[in-house]
Amino acid sequence: MKFLLLTTIVTGAAAWNLSAKLCQDFDLTVTVTSSNFVFGAPKFNNNFDITDFVTDLTSREPPKTFSPLLPDKINQTGTYKIGSTFCAPSNPHAPNRYTVIFATHGLNFDRTYWDSGFQPEKYSFVDYAISQGYSVFYYDRLGVGSSSIVSGYINQLPIQSEIAKQLARIVKSGRYPGSIGKPKSLVIVGHSFGSSISAAVAASEPDIADGLILTGFSYNGSNPNNFALAAQLKIASSLNPAKWNRLDTGYVTPVDIYANVNGFFKAPDYDLAVAEYTEYNKAPFAIGEFLTVTAIDILPVAFKGVAMVIAGQRDFIVCQSQCDDVIEHPAAEIFSQASAFKAVSYPGSGHGINFALNATGAYEEIFSYLGANGL
Ligand SMILES: *[C@@H]1O[C@H](CO)[C@@H](O)[C@H](O)[C@H]1NC(C)=O
Ligand SMILES: *[C@@H]1O[C@H](CO)[C@@H](O)[C@H](O)[C@H]1NC(C)=O
Ligand SMILES: *[C@@H]1O[C@H](CO)[C@@H](O)[C@H](O)[C@H]1NC(C)=O
Ligand SMILES: *[C@@H]1O[C@H](CO)[C@@H](O)[C@H](O)[C@H]1NC(C)=O
Repeated sequence: MKFLLLTTIVTGAAAWNLSAKLCQDFDLTVTVTSSNFVFGAPKFNNNFDITDFVTDLTSREPPKTFSPLLPDKINQTGTYKIGSTFCAPSNPHAPNRYTVIFATHGLNFDRTYWDSGFQPEKYSFVDYAISQGYSVFYYDRLGVGSSSIVSGYINQLPIQSEIAKQLARIVKSGRYPGSIGKPKSLVIVGHSFGSSISAAVAASEPDIADGLILTGFSYNGSNPNNFALAAQLKIASSLNPAKWNRLDTGYVTPVDIYANVNGFFKAPDYDLAVAEYTEYNKAPFAIGEFLTVTAIDILPVAFKGVAMVIAGQRDFIVCQSQCDDVIEHPAAEIFSQASAFKAVSYPGSGHGINFALNATGAYEEIFSYLGANGL
């Protein structure tokens, strides 16, 4: 009896310490060359211009002269500062400390998508990962938060995926402030456009990671709805000059909280206070990013690690609000060489899976899958 009690106390203390994290914020500098799309329409002067752009973009028969992206790509090189965070369990003996989760957020958020300041016990992916003993690297995309800014007419998937690749190499080699040394394993995790970036990285450098988790994502192009959101986008600096004047007119944002909820939440599975928190903290994104969300090959990749695609069952953006039986294909074929593959249509969630009422249930799906597959 005494022994049992003692065991319980020790386990309790260890578990408590396990969930404590040590985090460090720092900037990394990367120089990347990528083959980029060129924006082919006139730049927006005002919200009438973007409204007309969206009308043409979603038209059954756009004007012959309408060319949002030109047919020829160009190679461009840039050097960027990327605002980053690394968190490790404060317990040096945490079981998965040397497995690093490398997380890329999507459009409309900054890096805090992964570590909500609001009710973190319910909405922080980072805290959940730490509680399972993992370390996490996450960062602001180019154009967001404390990362460098480029024109919204230039910022796009090919640049972002080259940046992510360089950052992943830095993490793998342990060359960052507060390093835990070379990780044993790397798991790349994305949300939405961050999943497009992650998928592009795994396609072009399959050995870069041991695991790949694409959240808020589908390769199945038969029913995307992202253009429905397009009509609700306005020039960010016009909506809040004090906050967003440093961004050119190529940066856009959902016009109001209703547009935000339409894109990222599904009643009754969200808390209004959380929607308000995300609305207050929303980060504008580049029209160039928006236009290149789906600019990834739908071809089998040579990725041999553990792969998962997980989207909220009620994801308005990637599944027209019903992901059942949609996200499996062609994802299963794309990951035919993966050591394990699973598709999950996650109940009780819209597109913003980390802010659904049962977000921790989604984290549980992800981490139990990684654990069951040796990561
Ligand atoms: C847990 O952390 C507390 C406070 O930092 C420390 O006093 C205690 O010794 C730790 N316990 C274990 C089991 O590591
Ligand atoms: C861009 O770079 C790629 C790879 O380095 C090269 O194959 C291609 O010809 C270049 N394209 C242009 C337009 O310079
Ligand atoms: C997309 O999903 C549908 C089922 O909803 C399926 O019939 C179709 O083959 C899938 N598309 C691809 C390219 O696999
Ligand atoms: C939350 O998700 C987990 C894992 O999918 C599930 O077991 C649990 O029943 C869910 N809770 C609610 C209240 O839906």
